[in-house]
Amino acid sequence: MSDTFASGDATIIIFGASGDLTARKLIPALFRLHQQGYLQGGPVIGVARRDRSDDQFRSDLRSAVLSDADERTAADWKTFEPLLHYLRIDLSKQSDYEGLAESIRRLETAHSRPPETTRVVYLATAPALFDDAVLGLNHSGLIPPREHRDRLRVVVEKPFGHDLASARELNETLSRWLLEEQIYRIDHYLGKETVQNILLFRFGNAIFEPLLNRNHVDNVQITVAESIGMEGGRGAFYDTAGALRDVLQNHLLQLLCLVAMEPPALFQARQIRDEKVKVLQALRPGSSGPVSQWTVRGQYTAGLIDRQPVPGYREEDRVPPQSTRETFVAMKVGIDNWRWEGVPFFLRTGKRLPTRVTEIVIQFKQPPLNLFSTVECNGDLCDLVETRPNQLVLRIQPRESIFLRFSTKRPGMQYHIEPVVMDFDYEDHFPADLPGAYERLLLDVMRGDSTLFTRSDELLAAWKFVTPILQAWEHSASPPDPYPAGTWGPAAAERLVSEEGRHWREPTLDD
Ligand code: BG6
Repeated sequence: MSDTFASGDATIIIFGASGDLTARKLIPALFRLHQQGYLQGGPVIGVARRDRSDDQFRSDLRSAVLSDADERTAADWKTFEPLLHYLRIDLSKQSDYEGLAESIRRLETAHSRPPETTRVVYLATAPALFDDAVLGLNHSGLIPPREHRDRLRVVVEKPFGHDLASARELNETLSRWLLEEQIYRIDHYLGKETVQNILLFRFGNAIFEPLLNRNHVDNVQITVAESIGMEGGRGAFYDTAGALRDVLQNHLLQLLCLVAMEPPALFQARQIRDEKVKVLQALRPGSSGPVSQWTVRGQYTAGLIDRQPVPGYREEDRVPPQSTRETFVAMKVGIDNWRWEGVPFFLRTGKRLPTRVTEIVIQFKQPPLNLFSTVECNGDLCDLVETRPNQLVLRIQPRESIFLRFSTKRPGMQYHIEPVVMDFDYEDHFPADLPGAYERLLLDVMRGDSTLFTRSDELLAAWKFVTPILQAWEHSASPPDPYPAGTWGPAAAERLVSEEGRHWREPTLDD
């Protein structure tokens, strides 16, 4: 990985700059990098079909980004705004790309950029336009010759396909014009500070890693829970995806890779990604039975979130009233390797769950002999409650923290066992804001560091595991199990873990 002080020096070109992503994520991230002195390059050029002047583009972004900014932020924006430019192009029309390279060069010259400046093209468009976009880049002469390949990097936003075949097709499309090293497939989860810390926590400390294997771990649970539903008209997109494609195939499997992978030989992009691919290749269903035996899919019905009534999925804006799309998925999987053989990994994600929380729970085995499991009553004084298994929890969001649960004796005359927590809270320890995921990832692209981006073989291995599940669901006659909004998913999700006497950890933010 690159050193933390290198700045980003590149021209940024955002295809699809009228979209929500540009105003909500990309420009705020670039602005923050500029504020911290990391953005040495420029210009930042928005490209989209709408007719707009630079001034209109700047003013639209100003109102989106500075809605409740303080004076200092507003002053910083004034120094950032001149970097922003806008070019009108219909990305689906090859003739529109003519002259694009020239316009970009003109803006670079105006910003005193040298002729060999690195260019980062961010494809923030619908995937249907990726093909036209890379073809257009080639057509306009923006793809440099092989020996100068590093002068162009292309960032691709998810979804990367909707199953194995379409992901392969997309890879082929991109690789017709670009080399793998030029393609940065973004998964914003990998840019989260606490996700990056998983590797450091595991391989930068000597005390935890020796315990993370089949000898000591009983099971691992990964939860990506959200309390939001289909706000902002998101239902139209979501109904084409569902929880498995939208979150599990990418964000959740990335978390699984980081917690389960072997230590890389070097802390560098290729070695880290090689180890992640091995985890995905070793993934197997949680049982030898049909898909329905080790997966659960659910769909929320009306319920309460924060004590406020919310509609069911089928009543949401832009969702078909008969939709059978899953808004929740849970599954039991295994990893076929020496480290994890026999350890179940329970994964779950969903919308309209009680709270927004992402965490990884590593639950350890009970001590070999449970000395403290009997309850003895002496008069009306009863000693002992059973010990609970130790848990190591990596909380990714919110209230980012790492904590270890263990049993202790409550002070007093009885032998009363109480589970307690030893914890590390990011906010308490590092009071400054954690950098945002897009900030980190955009800077990495500018520096040419691909460690936190998904490589094509990683992507295909994830789809290879997920596609048979999608196919089995498509052919299944039964719809997803309903669950009321504000609950932890259908009862079947609890059964998935309780068969062997286990339980999901219910994340409470008071931990
Ligand atoms: C996106 C999904 O990739 O991740 C959304 O498309 C989801 O449906 C989001 O809400 C979750 O990201 P975060 O950072 O809010 O946990």
